[in-house]
Amino acid sequence: MVKKNTCVFISGQGSNLNNLILRSREKNFPIKISLIISNNKKAYGSNYAKKFKIPYLFINTNLHNYENKILLNLQKYKISFICLAGYMKIISSNIIKIYKKKIINIHPSLLPKFKGLNTFSRMLKNREIKAGCTVHFVNEKLDSGNNIIQKSFYIKNNDKEDDLKRKTQELEYKAFPEAIIKIFRYS
Ligand code: GAR
Repeated sequence: MVKKNTCVFISGQGSNLNNLILRSREKNFPIKISLIISNNKKAYGSNYAKKFKIPYLFINTNLHNYENKILLNLQKYKISFICLAGYMKIISSNIIKIYKKKIINIHPSLLPKFKGLNTFSRMLKNREIKAGCTVHFVNEKLDSGNNIIQKSFYIKNNDKEDDLKRKTQELEYKAFPEAIIKIFRYS
């Protein structure tokens, strides 16, 4: 099996990145992580690039030519698939057009509920019964592309934001790899 050269975009902790790197080293996992891009110089996740010797690129999204820099590097590393793993920036429509149906994102809610930021505080305020995560294709609208996989759990009375985050991330570590396997099994 030829693994798809994949780029993972991050902005912060990178725990999903770490999980994807570990899974991608399994023989039958469909992707190889060939490039990591971050828009945050201080992202802890960049340590995983060093640890696993994966090419890493910091992109300053305040610079006018940043999109070109991303595209050039995606070409350079022959990237055919993109995972957004806690990337807190909108991907430009040019990149979405070029990588149509080849970009997926993980979001900490049961979409279409709670698009955008601060999902856990809004869930608690709304007295939601369930929380969870969604892996979906990326299109031009925020958190709106077709869903690939969702995983959920029941919110307990005494759950705080931190509890929801921890429980959601445990599900994310299963959902993200499962979504990738699902995409390539049926493509
Ligand atoms: C994840 O929980 C992911 O769902 C969320 O950021 C976290 C990143 O954690 N993404 C979003 O909120 C995107 N709107 P990580 O850096 O430890 O993987």
